[in-house]
Amino acid sequence: AIDIRSLLRQTGYITLDSGFSNTGSCTSAITYLDGANGILDYYGYAIEELAENCSFTEVAYLILHKELPTYDQLESFKHDMVRFALLHEDMIHFFDHFPPNASPMSILSTSVNALHNYYPEMDEELDPYGGYTVTAARLLSKIRTIAAFSYKKSIGHPLVYPSARLNYCENFLNMMFDRPNLPYRIRPEFASALNKLLILHADHEQNCSTSTVRLVGSSGCNLYASISAGISALWGPLHGGANQAVVKMLEAILHDGGDFRKYIEKAKDKNDPFRLSGFGHRVYKTFDPRAKIIKQSCAEIMNLLEINDPLLDIALELEEIARTDDYFVSRNLYPNVDFYSGIIYRAMGIPTNMFTVMFAMGRMPGWIAQWTEMVEDKENARIGRPRQVYAGNTRRPFVPMKDR
Ligand code: ACO
Repeated sequence: AIDIRSLLRQTGYITLDSGFSNTGSCTSAITYLDGANGILDYYGYAIEELAENCSFTEVAYLILHKELPTYDQLESFKHDMVRFALLHEDMIHFFDHFPPNASPMSILSTSVNALHNYYPEMDEELDPYGGYTVTAARLLSKIRTIAAFSYKKSIGHPLVYPSARLNYCENFLNMMFDRPNLPYRIRPEFASALNKLLILHADHEQNCSTSTVRLVGSSGCNLYASISAGISALWGPLHGGANQAVVKMLEAILHDGGDFRKYIEKAKDKNDPFRLSGFGHRVYKTFDPRAKIIKQSCAEIMNLLEINDPLLDIALELEEIARTDDYFVSRNLYPNVDFYSGIIYRAMGIPTNMFTVMFAMGRMPGWIAQWTEMVEDKENARIGRPRQVYAGNTRRPFVPMKDR
């Protein structure tokens, strides 16, 4: 039989595929994505059914352990979420030394990397990959604590520690908003909307941050460091940072008198770098199935709470125009998952600079599972090392300093 891989290595041919539009970097059994038909499944379960029926903890278990949990498995996993929610007290001092206006994404990426120093089960010398279950639960639980602490620090309020009697989403909301002089009443509608949002973000095959986690991990780097790199990749406005960029864009349109048509024209102008944030996707060439669910959730929350957010009105106008405008139609530019999520976060009182942190919390199970899948795939285990097409000078004589 022909060994295609060694044949390709010998030929010296290089495929130039900027942005890796058509390059598969791995095989994966976690997420199935059909961008032409707007289908998204985790381990064969439709995203719509998971979002409707499950808790985020349940879906995280599915992504980490490949099957939905039984009652007992879920109870034990929830127990782990409680057990691992606290941070090492020494880590609390980290929060004192960031400047008050530090970006929560920077704090998150730094702190997740630092977790390795406090909980090194995954250290190759101590326990190559055996500590997976504990480390996965630890990361999932602690990212929520780090996220809430970074917010409290940014507003100068005392930290609120995790509680053993609250579920994953309630605990996060409580750590964010509870105050000694003003106890926070957790609204079930907010906890439920947050639960849905986290489920919808739990994995999304080989996107920029997940590919980063795999690439960094392919060098043998530990899970914490690999995920910290993924968080940095998520930060950018073309990826997870888009949810923040959407709200900033909608606010700018509002302050500009609500003239959204002007922004549509700007986005179409090829001499202007401006893009309509929250529109377009590398893989979806139809409505992002996650955006469909979030749009509905967004309308429900607004109606229920009788919130009238002018940003939502502008968002709906933009969506309507983009639906019929030839520029957007011919390029298949539909609203993506980030288009509506920011509006829901705003309604919950979550500040704009925390939006991408929320995305990171949701994506944590996916990053862990993708890293593990890579590590377990012994047959294809190779360090990620893309090639390039050299476009520089041909060899030339060295020029001594005095002649330059
Ligand atoms: N506004 C205006 N034009 C756009 C937009 C947009 N939001 N997105 C793509 N286009 C145009 C491009 O200019 C290009 O036009 P051309 O063919 O005339 O040159 C065409 O549509 C194809 O776009 P690409 O940049 O090739 O698409 P790519 O797959 O590389 O990028 C991306 C996808 C990054 C999501 C892009 O659509 C974008 O920048 N969107 C805005 C940012 C955003 O919402 N990001 C979140 C993505 S979802 C997520 O990360 C969870």
